[in-house]
Amino acid sequence: MIHISGTSALVLLWGGKEAYKSNLAQKYLAKLDLSAGKELFEECNKFWQPYFEIIRNRKFGVFNFLESILDKEPECQVVILAAGVAPLSFDVIEKFPQAKVFDVDIENMLLKKSLYEEIHPEAVPGSINFIESDITNKKTFEENLTKHGWDKSKTSIVVAEGISYYLTEEELWNAFSLFQSVNKSNYIILESRLPYEKVAEERREIQEKVWDYLQRSLGLKHVTRYHNEKVKEWSDKINAEIIEKHTMKDIENLRHGKNEIFPHHDFGWIEIRKLKV
Ligand SMILES: C[S@@+](CC[C@H](N)C(=O)[O-])C[C@H]1O[C@@H](n2cnc3c(N)ncnc32)[C@H](O)[C@@H]1O
Repeated sequence: MIHISGTSALVLLWGGKEAYKSNLAQKYLAKLDLSAGKELFEECNKFWQPYFEIIRNRKFGVFNFLESILDKEPECQVVILAAGVAPLSFDVIEKFPQAKVFDVDIENMLLKKSLYEEIHPEAVPGSINFIESDITNKKTFEENLTKHGWDKSKTSIVVAEGISYYLTEEELWNAFSLFQSVNKSNYIILESRLPYEKVAEERREIQEKVWDYLQRSLGLKHVTRYHNEKVKEWSDKINAEIIEKHTMKDIENLRHGKNEIFPHHDFGWIEIRKLKV
């Protein structure tokens, strides 16, 4: 069993096996020891028991946008920013074997690569490439991507899930700007968290309590949040265009065909957008 850090374990505990669809991802998850995240998990769940639904919806929503693009263009390059130890890349290649995936993170990519090789040796490095890089350093990030076979002239889908909180606005959009193209042929899937005042009053305090706790436990300096106007402002700066948005209400409906926990759009605090760039 491989022991992983508290935060990475927390998201995997919240997501559970249900968050990943592929057999490959299930085999991989069985190799991880998530005990470091147990305390964070139990403390956060005390604030709001259904918190895990936010993460499961988030995972579903990101994959749903990926499918919407890969169904039409299965040979895309998928660049997963801050991929961490999450097995999204296995879900992508099991369903879309023609895709070429780049898992990028500032740490743990060699460990992840060796685990992936044990499970599916043929996929590494042919379908999935592991890149240890700081995405806020655009120059070395681009060099590292290129060194691993990324082709700037081919269509890319950039996945930014679980990272917008930790980077400043400038850092995130500067990294996105690397993927600008003449005909807006690339995509960005951006998952982000809403500011306090944009969430319905009866739900506002939940994310504040959870994130105050996480910020203290993890020593986070700041947590960046986005809303429609802010995403639009930054999209304009890099000549990107927002083409679709999923709220928790939208995703719950996609998953279950009805709404129970999220009857209104502002009952959740996580949103996912699909952009062209
Ligand atoms: C909460 S995890 C998200 C993992 C995965 N994307 C998910 O949503 O389940 C955040 C990840 O961001 C990575 N990270 C933070 N700052 C980074 C940076 N500047 N460059 C690359 N990765 C970074 C961390 O190492 C960590 O793996």
